[in-house]
Amino acid sequence: MCLICGAQLTLHFALLDEFSVLPYLNHGNLTIIPNIKITKWGDRMKKIFSLLLISLILAAVIIGSGVYNIAATEKHWPVTEKLIEWMRISSVNAHVKSMEVPSLDSTDMDMIVTGATHYHAMCTGCHLAPGMKPTELSIGLYPQAPVFYQREATIDPAKALEQMRAYFWVIKNGIKMTAMPAWGLSHDDATIWAMVAFISRMSGMTHEQYQELTHSTQGSVSGHDHHDHSHE
Ligand code: HEC
Repeated sequence: MCLICGAQLTLHFALLDEFSVLPYLNHGNLTIIPNIKITKWGDRMKKIFSLLLISLILAAVIIGSGVYNIAATEKHWPVTEKLIEWMRISSVNAHVKSMEVPSLDSTDMDMIVTGATHYHAMCTGCHLAPGMKPTELSIGLYPQAPVFYQREATIDPAKALEQMRAYFWVIKNGIKMTAMPAWGLSHDDATIWAMVAFISRMSGMTHEQYQELTHSTQGSVSGHDHHDHSHE
């Protein structure tokens, strides 16, 4: 209702094209069309492209200036870490979807020992092992490498299978910009599955159990032991 003359007031919207809307008022039998500059599709596109171009130039200037600190000691923002984690999990999940998991019989001691000896020779520098102190290498990693024997065991069989697929894929292909190497370039699938089987049963493993499986004879495994690379 109009405050001055009491006429019926109604607000309408007219769709001009898919990108512009014109609001207008009906005042009794008088139509009031406000003087609004209507943005046309062409103008919109020009604006979007110039904004995009300005953002690209700005990004190039920022990257080229070197203000971004690439040091491993300079942590990402928590939100960036969450984004990267989301990307890693989604990427691995998408790539392992239809992967067949061979029967990894946990009583097959030959396979477990194969996995354990390979793990002992190649992985402990970053992922550590029961009874082992953090190494100079593991301390400096960003992101940090997970310590498998300290992880909680995955009880749910479906989740355990998912985890094995993910482990296999990561060991075979590595992870970009993280120091996790692709071992599939130098090892066959059977050896990688053996490592998966071993890592999957590492949760809560004691130093003695680890030594027995890896046939490591040292009193304590240290960060400076000389890895025997004659395993292949
Ligand atoms: C030079 C250091 C380094 C070595 C050596 C290394 N890794 Fe890693 N690994 C990493 C890092 C760092 C990550 C974490 C990457 C991330 O968080 O995105 C990782 C991640 C993983 C993951 C994924 C863990 C998860 O949470 O899903 C698996 C599995 C793995 N490594 C297995 C191995 C195995 C098996 C070996 C030995 C054959 C090995 N790694 C050797 C650094 C290393």
